[in-house]
Amino acid sequence: MTQHVSVIVGSLRGGSFARKIANNIIPLFPDGVEARIVEIRDLPLYNFDYDDPAVPEVATPASYTAFRDTIKASDGVLFVTPENNRTIPACVKNAVDIGSKPNSDVSWTGLPVGIISHSVGRMGGYSSQKNLRLALSYFDMPTVGQPEVFLSTSPELFAGGETIVRESTVEYLRDYVTRLVAVMDAQSRD
Ligand SMILES: Cc1cc2nc3c(=O)[nH]c(=O)nc-3n(C[C@H](O)[C@H](O)[C@H](O)COP(=O)(O)O)c2cc1C
Repeated sequence: MTQHVSVIVGSLRGGSFARKIANNIIPLFPDGVEARIVEIRDLPLYNFDYDDPAVPEVATPASYTAFRDTIKASDGVLFVTPENNRTIPACVKNAVDIGSKPNSDVSWTGLPVGIISHSVGRMGGYSSQKNLRLALSYFDMPTVGQPEVFLSTSPELFAGGETIVRESTVEYLRDYVTRLVAVMDAQSRD
């Protein structure tokens, strides 16, 4: 049976290195695992009125429902994100918040998760990754513990192209993906 991984890219810009990294990681998943990017750019900013039964005149956006259904139907999720002002980009936090409601049906609960951060600088999005782990910590998500993947000086990964040039980096990411799939397999056996 095919397993499905939702890949969430933490940048909305066209030339995003996070998106390039995600596009290079997706083919590294083994046979039997289908990974694809779930777009978050059109999700309205989170507003609890959308979910509050006490405010029935405000409907839940269809994009929220579609996003939540996609996440809940996934066997795992992989975040690939840059860092904005020492934390996660607003689009990522927005997606996390949307998936966190309603309380009776949280999309993230128990879902295996991998996190890859990057930066054009030398710190590899360290604070972003740590803050994302903090935000997700409420949802009891089995996580790839090690390695923590911080990709620094991300433009150099691509040398002006679309493909990660260094084979050792590709193998490092393949190993990470393998570890995520192992977490997914362990979860599906529970
Ligand atoms: C609003 C904003 C804040 C940023 N803050 C940080 C930061 O705190 N740490 C960091 O390493 N880079 C920071 N950057 C630089 C980003 O890492 C860089 O723009 C990167 O290319 C964004 O990722 P993307 O290529 O996937 O869009 C920031 C960029 C923007 C636009």
